[in-house]
Amino acid sequence: MMFKNLQTDRLLLRNIEMEDRDFIFHQFSNEIVNRFLFDAEPLTKLEQANEIIDFYIYPEPRLQHRWIVIQTTDNVKVGTCGFHCWNKNEGIIDIGYDLREEYWGKGYMHEALTEIINYAEEVMKVHEVRAIISVDNDKSIRLAESLGFKVAGTEYVLFRNEKYLHNIYSLTLSKGQMKKAL
Ligand SMILES: CC(C)(COP(=O)(O)OP(=O)(O)OC[C@H]1O[C@@H](n2cnc3c(N)ncnc32)[C@H](O)[C@@H]1OP(=O)(O)O)[C@@H](O)C(=O)NCCC(=O)NCCS
Repeated sequence: MMFKNLQTDRLLLRNIEMEDRDFIFHQFSNEIVNRFLFDAEPLTKLEQANEIIDFYIYPEPRLQHRWIVIQTTDNVKVGTCGFHCWNKNEGIIDIGYDLREEYWGKGYMHEALTEIINYAEEVMKVHEVRAIISVDNDKSIRLAESLGFKVAGTEYVLFRNEKYLHNIYSLTLSKGQMKKAL
């Protein structure tokens, strides 16, 4: 199997499972978490969380994966992160991530993304990671830039008939780059 549970100093990154349904619903129905997520409507029904989980537990080989980010001191689920739109031929992949608001400001997502980007480079042989970020999503921009992502272009995302400007951030991986940061 390509996708494994991962461990960092403060976090367990555990492969998503059906039993995470309540957490996924909580996370993706939350107004604060969804504020800049213009690629999908916030969830309104618990069953919609099944669709998200089904997508990420589809039998391998698959082009997407999601980890649940768990604080190891007390096993609390604090967020999720993962990949989608894996272009295996070109070695390019999109990254996504979210934390519960109570856990912002601790460097948790920086820690989680450093680990999964290293995994993408070493195990998945990815050489470019992309993040599509709303130009108003200051925290996500700061996080991406702190990991070395650079703006490679822009695009509009259509949401409820409005166009929202996004930057396409790109991180080109050179050998062992994220490993040194671990
Ligand atoms: C994007 C998001 C994950 C960023 O969360 P975050 O906690 O700011 O991200 P980081 O893990 O990089 O933490 C950095 C913050 O922790 C602080 N910090 C504290 N201890 C730290 C440590 N040990 N290491 C690094 N940073 C630390 C930093 O100073 C910084 O704080 P600041 O925002 O006050 O400057 C969060 O805002 C979120 O979930 N948003 C909603 C979902 C979303 O928009 N996702 C992205 C879509 S593109």
